[in-house]
Amino acid sequence: MDTISDKLPDVESVRGLFSLAGKVALVTGSGSGLCRAIAWGMACNGADIAIVDRDGKAAATCAAELRNGTGRHIESFQADVSNESEVANAVSGALETFGHIDVLLNGAGHNIRKPLVEFTQAEFDSLMQVHVRGAFFFCRAIAPGMRERKSGSIINVASIAAFVGIREIAPYSAAKAALLQFSRAFALEMAPFGVRVNAIAPGFIDTPLTRQHSTEKRRKIEEISPTGRFGGADELIGPAIFLASDASSFVTGTSVVVDGAWSAQ
Ligand SMILES: NC(=O)c1ccc[n+]([C@@H]2O[C@H](COP(=O)([O-])OP(=O)(O)OC[C@H]3O[C@@H](n4cnc5c(N)ncnc54)[C@H](O)[C@@H]3O)[C@@H](O)[C@H]2O)c1
Repeated sequence: MDTISDKLPDVESVRGLFSLAGKVALVTGSGSGLCRAIAWGMACNGADIAIVDRDGKAAATCAAELRNGTGRHIESFQADVSNESEVANAVSGALETFGHIDVLLNGAGHNIRKPLVEFTQAEFDSLMQVHVRGAFFFCRAIAPGMRERKSGSIINVASIAAFVGIREIAPYSAAKAALLQFSRAFALEMAPFGVRVNAIAPGFIDTPLTRQHSTEKRRKIEEISPTGRFGGADELIGPAIFLASDASSFVTGTSVVVDGAWSAQ
């Protein structure tokens, strides 16, 4: 049996707990919104980044922004995360460019808001495909390399809609709940190999996705939010860096809720 040491870690290793220096992160959906902010935050903390988005122009713009702003090695790849061959191309492109991937953040997604009885099968399927199948494709392509190197962090962007009921987004909620449970179960498989799998569950964050709400709806959301406001995309940076870095070395199979106490009500 290992002897337990009471020796405290040295000062430098504690100060560097949140550093991503020398790490490579692949971030899907980072052409816009909260994943763009997360990719920026990771690059600011020392990571090189593969930006992946189905909007190739947005991905390239974000890559240029991050490269110019941080001096890190940043490349963009166009892929629809629900398309198996496009995912395979993006992953092989990222591996050719960077050699390996330490952090995978699955954040690409969209939402469709209306009463459940008005959903078409295609709309329902599109939500499952982007949120669940997309994460599956990227995990299946990237996790074997992490397992071999006995290190890696996978972060799936779920939502508080995975925990609490929110009207008129039942298929989105089901997809996010599936993604959360996918993360937990996959964490068990990867734990013996030193690879961690977690989810981030944001509440209402001000991004192009939530700017689709009418002014009236946004006002109502603010009124019932304990903080009285939407979260900022930049407020996801800290939680994502925590999960990506050694600061969360014993955190796996769980989720970090970032919702300004919305789900505490
Ligand atoms: N904004 C919120 O309040 C909120 C709350 C909880 C969870 N989320 C989740 O966070 C993630 C990012 O949302 P956001 O608010 O930043 O939205 P956003 O619309 O600003 O950004 C989403 C990005 O994903 C890309 N994308 C969409 N479908 C794709 C696909 N099939 N393949 C590749 N790229 C695709 C889009 O092109 C876009 O760049 C989503 O998974 C969303 O469900 C957002």
